[in-house]
Amino acid sequence: MKNPRFSLSILVLFFSLYTHLSLAALSTVSADQTLTGDQTIVSEGEVFELGFFKPGNSSNYYIGIWYKKVTTKTIVWVANRDNPVSNKNTATFTISGGNLVLLDGSSNQVWSTNMTSPRSGSAVEAVLLDSGNFVLRYRPNDDTSEPLWQSFDHPTDTFLPGGKIKLNNKTKKPQYLTSWKNIEDPATGLFSLELDPKGSTAFLISRNKTEQYWTSGPWNGHIFSLVPEMRLNYIFNFSFVSNENESYFTYSLYNSSIISRLSIDVSGQIKQITWLENAQEWNLFWSQPRQQCEVYAFCGAFGSCTEFLMPSCNCLRGFEPKSQSDWNLGDYSGGCQRRTKLQCENSNASSRDKDRFLAIPNAVLPKVAQSVGFGNAEECESICLSSCSCTAYALDSHGCSIWVGKLLNVEQLSSDDSSGETLYLKLAASEFHDDKSSKGTIIGVVVGVVVGVWVLLAILWRRKRMAVAGKAAEGSLVAFGYRDLQDATRNFSEKLGGGGFGSVFKGTLDDSSAVAVKKLESINQGQKQFQTEVKTIGAIQHVNLVRLHGFCSEGTKKLLVYEYMPNGSLDFHLFQNKNFMVLDWKTRYQIALGTARGLAYLHEKCGECIIHCDVKPENILLDADFCPKVADFGLAKLVGRDFSRVLATVRGTKNYLSPEWISGVPITATADVYSYGMMLFELLSGRRNSDEPSDSEDDQFTFFPTRAASIVAQGGNVLSLLDPCLEQNADTEEVTRMTTVASWCVQDNETHRPTMSHVVHILDGILDVNLPPIPRFPQLFVGN
Ligand SMILES: *[C@@H]1O[C@H](CO)[C@@H](O)[C@H](O)[C@H]1NC(C)=O
Ligand SMILES: *[C@@H]1O[C@H](CO)[C@@H](O)[C@H](O)[C@H]1NC(C)=O
Ligand SMILES: *[C@@H]1O[C@H](CO)[C@@H](O)[C@H](O)[C@H]1NC(C)=O
Ligand SMILES: *[C@@H]1O[C@H](CO)[C@@H](O)[C@H](O)[C@H]1NC(C)=O
Ligand SMILES: *[C@@H]1O[C@H](CO)[C@@H](O)[C@H](O)[C@H]1NC(C)=O
Ligand SMILES: *[C@@H]1O[C@H](CO)[C@@H](O)[C@H](O)[C@H]1NC(C)=O
Ligand SMILES: *[C@@H]1O[C@H](CO)[C@@H](O)[C@H](O)[C@H]1NC(C)=O
Ligand SMILES: *[C@@H]1O[C@H](CO)[C@@H](O)[C@H](O)[C@H]1NC(C)=O
Repeated sequence: MKNPRFSLSILVLFFSLYTHLSLAALSTVSADQTLTGDQTIVSEGEVFELGFFKPGNSSNYYIGIWYKKVTTKTIVWVANRDNPVSNKNTATFTISGGNLVLLDGSSNQVWSTNMTSPRSGSAVEAVLLDSGNFVLRYRPNDDTSEPLWQSFDHPTDTFLPGGKIKLNNKTKKPQYLTSWKNIEDPATGLFSLELDPKGSTAFLISRNKTEQYWTSGPWNGHIFSLVPEMRLNYIFNFSFVSNENESYFTYSLYNSSIISRLSIDVSGQIKQITWLENAQEWNLFWSQPRQQCEVYAFCGAFGSCTEFLMPSCNCLRGFEPKSQSDWNLGDYSGGCQRRTKLQCENSNASSRDKDRFLAIPNAVLPKVAQSVGFGNAEECESICLSSCSCTAYALDSHGCSIWVGKLLNVEQLSSDDSSGETLYLKLAASEFHDDKSSKGTIIGVVVGVVVGVWVLLAILWRRKRMAVAGKAAEGSLVAFGYRDLQDATRNFSEKLGGGGFGSVFKGTLDDSSAVAVKKLESINQGQKQFQTEVKTIGAIQHVNLVRLHGFCSEGTKKLLVYEYMPNGSLDFHLFQNKNFMVLDWKTRYQIALGTARGLAYLHEKCGECIIHCDVKPENILLDADFCPKVADFGLAKLVGRDFSRVLATVRGTKNYLSPEWISGVPITATADVYSYGMMLFELLSGRRNSDEPSDSEDDQFTFFPTRAASIVAQGGNVLSLLDPCLEQNADTEEVTRMTTVASWCVQDNETHRPTMSHVVHILDGILDVNLPPIPRFPQLFVGN
């Protein structure tokens, strides 16, 4: 296979050097051969750049590679990650003895490619390729010879397209992708990705190369078994190669003009991130493991991890960060230390200050416990008190579990998550502030419970404060308590529907107004971020958009409270309710127009463009007068920038998904236009586009949108397309207009689709349109 990396025939050589054995030939060019200060090397197509960089507020310099065109400087490789230099102007990066070397201001070697037997006597050159691979090779280069050394064999935290993650088949030695130490220190961090050294085709992620906490599951040729959303990853083309010498994964981009990469983050998660050219920002496509607290010992010893608050790590009570500066930089691995020594560690303590236990409710307990196999609370305590190294205990029906030494992986669940257990943490007596009594262990438990209650109160207070803030800031947007909504919906007893983002229940507020309460699923955001997004949604008001009344955000419980729509959703009337009431043509046309107005408002009028992402009849609600209102807008964003989650949410309705969703290019408002067009066809036919009879599968015209588009394109009888229930009672011109618009909306090429305000003008009869080409409808989107 001819590797495209080596097919660049004319390389711009920014520097090249000869080994010192050919000094005679070298002396005249040596002055240009070192890289120092702000000099950089740029790849031929100006994709990547190499030079000195200084991360964040750090005072250290490193040789690194970054994207030339990405405005947010993003480092994809670091040479001297563990050996920084302090002055870029005195440091030099050069070739010496056939090796690439970095020398500090005193000419000490800081970093080297360390090849033991560089072939002497030959000319070598170093070149940065457009793939981001930095290659040391012989010169002249015939494009086919293997590089002497290449940065792709020594990745830091980023796996670039064309790179490899290898396992040596002979030595079974894996190659690691290793996170930075923290956000401004590229030094070898704790988290690393590798190919399973046992030879399965799975990726593993571990901490400190010992504690494995995630696996991708084996590769089946298309996806990793435990990462099913890869099926929807139409950006990366992964492949697995195995031969006598090595096994490796590599990947390419389906569309080479997209900038996308896979990195292992300081959070211990692997992330696929794509650059959005229009927005000029990186967009998280997916990450694994999905939950921050699944990362082994992420918060370090005596740290406590939460999914629902930011930051994810806090110290357990009675503890403080060992290094606050590391914590500030997102490196929690150092964990926490006791503020006050235990009595047993402190010879000066009086025997009255007996250590006590703090109850920590709603906790996920650390895994490695010593089970005692018997005991009640009192016995557990005395066992734990009898050993100075015992740090905590828990009690269940089998008796005590005891933890000795450092506590790792404590997770704090939200107060209403019933899956948690109570951990009793040993602390010095002085950590408890009601020191009036000294009556031993029972008091300890009581104090523990009191402190537990204090924690609950703190959460409640926080909630209350949030509610007040919500009310004050948003005017009409109400912050509800979970309990209020439980009451309003009679404990979520009357289900109105189950949308992609969660189920909806009918509720009645105190003032007896009806509401629809949506219980959001898979929202994994911090409170602040959630509230910001909700405020944005709440501020959007239009007659064709469902109005948000308020929200509830308590721990992982996230709910939205909307105005209630007595006539339910469009799908019910179009597809299910036909025997009782047929939506007449006028109503259908008004629904098409109103929906278009609502979407046009979202796309164009409300400040930041909001892409709905899930336009379909289920999300068009009808009020008492059958006036349509678009529901669920803003939720795609709320679910997060994690597109896999959005895809997972909407994939049940792939008939409405435009081709861009699958090709992996950034989604724009034209994706909504496509879905809207698909919905117009359903308004016309009164059937699901996907519901065509399958008896004549070879006939391309069985797919209703194709048939409709071709009839309108050929000036055929459009009334024949109509829902039979209408008995052709419709305005022919309106039917033609709606079919024409629908055909334009579903054009494969998104630039051919109209904007939603064009659609409004066309349906209003203000704007005329030409006949549309017949769209292709990639087979992927229809049928199975
Ligand atoms: C750098 O330091 C400044 C001032 O101390 C601070 O505001 C900023 O957030 C720091 N930047 C980073 C990336 O840590
Ligand atoms: C190169 O070798 C030296 C000495 O053996 C060693 O200290 C250094 O860490 C090595 N550098 C790299 C990048 O492997
Ligand atoms: C990582 O493992 C090494 C030994 O393999 C150990 O010395 C070190 O303390 C560990 N670091 C952390 C943070 O667990
Ligand atoms: C995906 O990668 C494989 C292996 O490199 C290649 O054979 C195939 O053509 C690629 N597919 C596409 C659609 O680019
Ligand atoms: C490793 O090499 C051996 C023999 O050379 C071969 O049988 C085996 O299949 C190789 N392993 C992989 C994973 O390719
Ligand atoms: C494996 O390594 C040997 C020795 O380096 C080489 O001759 C052979 O071509 C390699 N095999 C493959 C499939 O690359
Ligand atoms: C590839 O991506 C670019 C930039 O997003 C886009 O303009 C182009 O149409 C895409 N090409 C294909 C074949 O999808
Ligand atoms: C005990 O008290 C002595 C004198 O007050 C003090 O110097 C010493 O540091 C204390 N030891 C501990 C472990 O607190």
